[in-house]
This record gives sequence, structure tokens and C-alpha cells, in this order.
Amino acid sequence: VLRETASGGSTDDLGRALAQGWTLPADWYSDPAIAALERERIFRRTWQYAGRVGDVERPGDFFTCLAGPVPVVVTRDREGELRGFVNVCRHRGHLVAQGCGHRETLQCPYHAWTYALDGSLRAAPRADRERGFDASALSLLPVQVETWGPFVFVNPDLDAPPLSDVLGDLPSLVERSGLDLGSLEFRLRQESTVAANWKIVVENFLECYHCPVAHPSFSDLIDVDPDAYRLEANEWYSSQIGPVRAAALERPDEAPYDARGEVAESQFHHLWPTFTLNVEPGPPNASVFVIAPGSHPRETRLLSDLFFHPDVDDEQVRAMVEFGNTVGAEDNALVESVQQGLDSGLVPQGRLLVSSEHLIQHFQALVHTALAADA
Ligand code: FES
Ligand SMILES: [Fe+2]
Repeated sequence: VLRETASGGSTDDLGRALAQGWTLPADWYSDPAIAALERERIFRRTWQYAGRVGDVERPGDFFTCLAGPVPVVVTRDREGELRGFVNVCRHRGHLVAQGCGHRETLQCPYHAWTYALDGSLRAAPRADRERGFDASALSLLPVQVETWGPFVFVNPDLDAPPLSDVLGDLPSLVERSGLDLGSLEFRLRQESTVAANWKIVVENFLECYHCPVAHPSFSDLIDVDPDAYRLEANEWYSSQIGPVRAAALERPDEAPYDARGEVAESQFHHLWPTFTLNVEPGPPNASVFVIAPGSHPRETRLLSDLFFHPDVDDEQVRAMVEFGNTVGAEDNALVESVQQGLDSGLVPQGRLLVSSEHLIQHFQALVHTALAADA
């Protein structure tokens, strides 16, 4: 697959083209073979947002999620350990747990195989009639689980380096901004899909070159001038920091929402491959926004978990959510249009403006390197 790119060259040629500011080939955003490689070489090997620590506080608590395309269940076992498993029954593959809740055991709804919260198979009806049935070899498959502040992350690769290796300086960067993630409480989850490949959505997230053109309310609030708005690529995460405009603070009635508060700079961080953390100016807030592949290459699954300081009132939350959704709808129209353009096949490679879009260049190099890696 990698040797027959739309640009017609080899993967080495593509690496050189990316370094010069050319984009990934257009067909990488729809080709099922690329999506299959991404599943194997990106999503089965990386740390991805699973959910909230607050949902698995007590022994017996569990929640389900998708880590990229991998169904996962996270449990707090009887010993109080946080555990994670591929949420797929070892019998014939039905998803074992649904939603979230509190249970002694997890029972598959298909034929009632029952697993303990540590993943071991406890009961399989009629197994006693079966010769050589070894329940001990049929535990749910474990995944790695770790937390950062209120967030739970999972990694299907048991040999992958710890979460702290990929987070790097990101936690201290957030802390230095004055935001205490531990002081925030979960308020709202939103989920949707958009008709574009996940990489288009990530790339759209990674630049604010489009902000003055496409996001009038955002640009009223945040100083999106290239001399004020900072972009920084690190190995596994990229950051964008944009100061709030003085005018928005002086005349809050005319601003998209009242942005007066402790947070004076917006922060938009992307952690490879699908996690983003966003902080808007105003009272203490943070939102996780996950950009993950959907059920086919032209679909992206979006999930956001919004956290605010407990003192932030509902009206302020409503105004900030509405602001975020307005910007989100503008972005959805952009990425769906890009998908249509790439699908034409007539413009097989785009040209980045690397001074404003080097975070995209960095992301595309990560994609290219991951897919070119030996299996
Ligand atoms: S698939 Fe789970 S019990 Fe049969
Ligand atoms: Fe945008």
C-alpha cells in the first residue's frame, strides 16, 4: 500500500515530500487499506482517552469506551485496582459490558459467559459438559490503563511505554498556566460523527490559519494574529496558545460569552493520535475532545467531555458550550468539504504553509512513520 501512493512514489519519496511541505496523498483519507494499517499500527499501539476517573471510583464500578476502534471496558476491581480489558467476549465476540455502572461481575448478554472484574472467566453455562474446557485460558484480554488528573487512558499494547512518556511536559505546561485539573468537575458529554476522515479533523484542529476566515466569533474572542497565537510541536503532543482579546474582556456584552476569569489564554493541545485537551479563556474549565476513526474511512467519531470548576454556574456553562458548538459546526463544514475535495482524486497532494501549519506537518510525519514501521 505504502509503495503505491497517489503521488506515485515510494514511502521514502513521501517522507521527503512531507518535509518540503507537501501533504499526505489524498487517497490516504479514504483508502480502506490505509485505514486497516492505521488500526494495526496506530490505534492498537497508542494511548487513548477512555473516560473519567470519577466513573470508576469504587470497587465494582465500570465503564465501556472505544480506544480508537477497539472496544474497551475499564473496571475498578475488588482490590481497588484500575483494570482495562478488550470488551470482547472470548466465546464468539459479543461485546461483554454495555454503558457504565456498578457490578460484581460482567456478564456477556449473548450466552451468559461471566467474567470477574479482574477479567477472569468465572462461569460459562454448560461448560461442565465440555471436555478439556480450560476457563483459565479464556480471560478477557488485558489492556494498559493509566490516569492523568481526572482522565483515564488505555493502550491495547501491553508492551507500549507508559503514558508519562508520551505526555512529556504536557501536564506541567497545563499546570503552569494556573489551571488545576484536579479542581474541575465533569459537567457534560457530547458525541457525534462527521463525514470526513479522522486525519482531516485532526489537521483542522492543528492550525488556526483558517480562524480569521472561518470562525468569526472565535476570532472576536481570541487573538489569532500569527504574532500573538503560538504554535509548538513536541514529539507526541502539539500545543496552540492564544491570548484572549482585551476588547472581549472590556466589553463582555459584545463578546461571544463573558470570558472574564482566571484563565486568560486559550490552550489547545493535541496528544498523538486522537486526544485533545482544550482550555478556553474565562473561569477554570477544560474539555477533552476526542477525534477518532468512525466505522469507515470517511467517518470520524467525535466525543467531548467538558469539565468546569464547581463554582461556574449553569448559565456560564451554557454560554461556553454554545460558543464551542458554534465553532464546532463551522469546523464540521470545513472538514466535510475537504473530504469531498480529496475524494475527487484530481488534486492528489496539497501544499502546506509551514509557517502557519507546521503542526500539521509534524502530525503527518507521525502518521507516515507509524504506517511505514515494520509490523
Ligand atoms: S459471545 Fe459472549 S457468551 Fe457467547
Ligand atoms: Fe476551526
